[in-house]
Amino acid sequence: MHILCKMRTSKMKFFTIATVMFIGLYLFLSYTLLEVWFEEEDTRKVSTIKVNVSLDYVVMHIDLKRTPLKLSYLETLLPMLKDNGVNSLLMEYEDMFPYEGKLVNLSGQHCYKKPELKRFLSTAIGSGFEIIPLVQTFGHLEYALKLSEFQHLREMPLYPDSICPSKPESMAFIRHLLEQVMDFHNEIRPLKHIHIGCDEVYHMNECQNCKKSGLEKTDIFLHQVQTLSDVIKSQYPDTTVLIWDDMLRGIKPDKWNYIDQFTNVQPVCWDYGAKLIVSHANLFMYHKKFPHIWIASAFKGADGRTATFPELSSRYNNVFSWMDFISKYRFGGEQEVYNFRGIILTGWSRYSHMDPPCELLPVSIPSLLTSLIVVEKFKSGVSIVIDAYDNKGFEEELGIGRFVSKKRDCVIEIYNFDYSECEFDGKELYDIFKYFSKISLDLQKIFNDNERSLEYVEFYSQFDLINKNTLAKNVKILDKNLEKIGFFENTSASVMSKYYERDFVNEYINYKTFHIKKKLQRLRNIYDMYYNVSVWRRTPINITYFVT
Ligand SMILES: *[C@@H]1O[C@H](CO)[C@@H](O)[C@H](O)[C@H]1NC(C)=O
Ligand SMILES: *[C@@H]1O[C@H](CO)[C@@H](O)[C@H](O)[C@H]1NC(C)=O
Ligand SMILES: *[C@@H]1O[C@H](CO)[C@@H](O)[C@H](O)[C@H]1NC(C)=O
Ligand SMILES: *[C@@H]1O[C@H](CO)[C@@H](O)[C@H](O)[C@H]1NC(C)=O
Ligand SMILES: *[C@@H]1O[C@H](CO)[C@@H](O)[C@H](O)[C@H]1NC(C)=O
Ligand SMILES: [Zn+2]
Repeated sequence: MHILCKMRTSKMKFFTIATVMFIGLYLFLSYTLLEVWFEEEDTRKVSTIKVNVSLDYVVMHIDLKRTPLKLSYLETLLPMLKDNGVNSLLMEYEDMFPYEGKLVNLSGQHCYKKPELKRFLSTAIGSGFEIIPLVQTFGHLEYALKLSEFQHLREMPLYPDSICPSKPESMAFIRHLLEQVMDFHNEIRPLKHIHIGCDEVYHMNECQNCKKSGLEKTDIFLHQVQTLSDVIKSQYPDTTVLIWDDMLRGIKPDKWNYIDQFTNVQPVCWDYGAKLIVSHANLFMYHKKFPHIWIASAFKGADGRTATFPELSSRYNNVFSWMDFISKYRFGGEQEVYNFRGIILTGWSRYSHMDPPCELLPVSIPSLLTSLIVVEKFKSGVSIVIDAYDNKGFEEELGIGRFVSKKRDCVIEIYNFDYSECEFDGKELYDIFKYFSKISLDLQKIFNDNERSLEYVEFYSQFDLINKNTLAKNVKILDKNLEKIGFFENTSASVMSKYYERDFVNEYINYKTFHIKKKLQRLRNIYDMYYNVSVWRRTPINITYFVT
């Protein structure tokens, strides 16, 4: 008995050891096979390219129009921006600048105070940033021309965007504007660049005065740019003038022939699309007429007037396309790849002064980082890893590429962006708005269901036949959602207050919830109205009798 047992035990031992060894071998083989398979996958799918881009300026655009972003928050961003290659800040103050004298009403209620702005700019300059102020001088002057005291400078009485260049007071006004902003900056550090906007001049050559000159729109535009740059040159000879390029795009080559080279003006060729549309003919004219060309992409504010989040894949494709474009751009007859002067990563806060706020800066930081990583990779000339499905060419990859990078505790994966991996200052705000997006989405379905309920409730109310259980159920759902929205409003308000002044916080949240609350309340009122039906009505009120 005892011996038998022992034998059994040793047999069992042998069996166990054999099994374990077998499983071990199996696992080892599978692992090796898997590894080989994955390696093959890698070599099949991923290719690398060498690039060489020399951009002297990597500029972050800070759009403050009607957006009182706290300078204390902006200051906390500076080290991160510097670490990721930003060397200049394009400050579009609009109504956030502390104007004075005749211009005092241009400033919004929460405009920066001179000492705090000076302190912020000094800190930024001290950390190595160049400051480039942006002062609109032709179109997009809504923040000035909306005011009664400047209304008479409009090109068209009903449109406050464009200024009339032929009114003598216009030039005096623009001079004041430029002087106030430029002198303020020059006191801190002489400006190397000033951006004078000049994009989207929607109204030109429409007033009687301008029409009298007999000039065409493009002549008027070029003439005004010339005037503006001469004014700046005479007063600030060491400051280079930047302009957005869109108004130059339609100019025919023969028109350009009449223009000498602009010596102190440089155009910024902007395109914010996932796929670029850049005219080589235009670029060629810029090359001939201007000493340098800049480019501009967008990390936010280009995915719809009312967007809450930047659409990461389109922002990524936009900057990637630009970098790919310039990394091999040669003008006809030239050996060397052309050196574009700089890239401006624009981050629009509103499409115009009169438009609603679009994506907030704190929730757009991952998108900004993505752009910066792309620029840095192209600039440093290291190989870029891109998925090359079916081994297609690099250009074809731009639309479908996948770009993964790990930086600052943030895994950025373009087509499957998972913020939960990300730690950044605006994460809390991001989560709250994601929650709101989900409520909004759920409500679309609830609104549809309610519309259908209302169709029969309305009809049968004529008979005073109403299913009160349905009514009560719907009302309960509506009330629950109203409460959820209240929770969102309160929470987002307190988090947003870290970044923005009170009035903007209130505007933003009210704007986001305005329509949803209105719809919910409207449905709520209708149900209330039907709730107190009395007794069944034998003769319906408004029914058409087809048969009698
Ligand atoms: C990169 O560009 C610079 C100047 O544009 C040039 O001198 C250099 O040879 C280029 N390098 C490569 C690898 O093309
Ligand atoms: C600013 O606006 C106020 C109120 O409309 C007006 O009384 C004042 O004259 C304006 N200031 C200037 C400098 O135009
Ligand atoms: C939100 O705050 C308001 C005002 O402080 C308060 O009356 C309301 O009950 C709060 N709503 C929620 C859902 O917390
Ligand atoms: C419905 O009836 C209740 C109880 O009589 C009353 O308090 C309420 O105001 C009525 N609602 C409407 C919309 O008439
Ligand atoms: C019935 O129809 C008439 C005429 O179309 C309209 O004026 C009236 O308001 C309707 N009454 C109800 C209770 O719907
Ligand atoms: Zn005019």
